Amino acid sequence: MSSAETPALEVRDLVAGYGDYPVVDGVSLAVPHGKVVAVAGPNGAGKSTLLKAMLGLVRVLSGRVLLEGEDVTGAALERLARLGVGYVPQLDDVFDSMKVIENLEMGGYLCDRAERQRRIEQVLEIFPVLRGKLHRYAETLSGGERKMTAIARVLMLDPKVLVLDEPTASLSPEMSRVVLEEQVRPLSRLGKSVLLVEQKAVAALEVADWACLLVRGKVEVSAPAAEVLADPNMREIFLGRAPAATAEVAGSE
Ligand SMILES: Nc1ncnc2c1ncn2[C@@H]1O[C@H](COP(=O)(O)OP(=O)(O)OP(=O)(O)O)[C@@H](O)[C@H]1O
Ligand SMILES: [Mg+2]
Repeated sequence: MSSAETPALEVRDLVAGYGDYPVVDGVSLAVPHGKVVAVAGPNGAGKSTLLKAMLGLVRVLSGRVLLEGEDVTGAALERLARLGVGYVPQLDDVFDSMKVIENLEMGGYLCDRAERQRRIEQVLEIFPVLRGKLHRYAETLSGGERKMTAIARVLMLDPKVLVLDEPTASLSPEMSRVVLEEQVRPLSRLGKSVLLVEQKAVAALEVADWACLLVRGKVEVSAPAAEVLADPNMREIFLGRAPAATAEVAGSE
């Protein structure tokens, strides 16, 4: 049963990894409805593995994954897609040899033709920039346009929950902010619940409601994003540096 308090997506004491080695080592976190939860952490911390374990792509050793309070531990990605979860992976997020319009059509694979056309129009209202690029091959797009296509492709099934793995990987700091501000932030305005993994911690926290820091497979910090941003020591911890001795902290990463 779901209620206003039931998170859209939640993991409880999740342990997961490759073979018997627990890369994700007892993680609990919740994504409330319409909120953005950012997970930051250093390379190799287990961020992608956490997402993959939630999405049935990596074996869960123990713990639970709940969607609207329903146990979906180990459910396949296809089933989760039907239940309203959209996943934009860190890599291989668009079909390079296809046009943007074809990528969108592929994203709407569960819909009939008329519904697909309607969804394409909706997605183009969210990302109007793509309207002029529908017939470009994805491989010819800029990094930001490409990521927009990847998110738009996943939006084709009108998911309630979006799981985004480092949408700004390989983008410049400026383009990263554009993607987070103009592509990720609007998702929560549309009422979507978003689990966002990002290494660009400060930029991610600026569009997030809640912040988690994952280190060596464990949640080290879990706090409101605004509190982390307002606290110089917490900011430094999220940036992977030693806490500042003074309140003097640079404004960005
Ligand atoms: N398919 C795999 N088989 C075995 N080990 C893996 C596999 N994928 C990842 N790992 C290991 O699991 C650990 C966590 O990797 P993961 O990709 O989850 O980290 P991450 O936090 O997403 O890092 P990054 O910020 O670099 O994307 C790393 O030590 C990595 O080498
Ligand atoms: Mg990763």
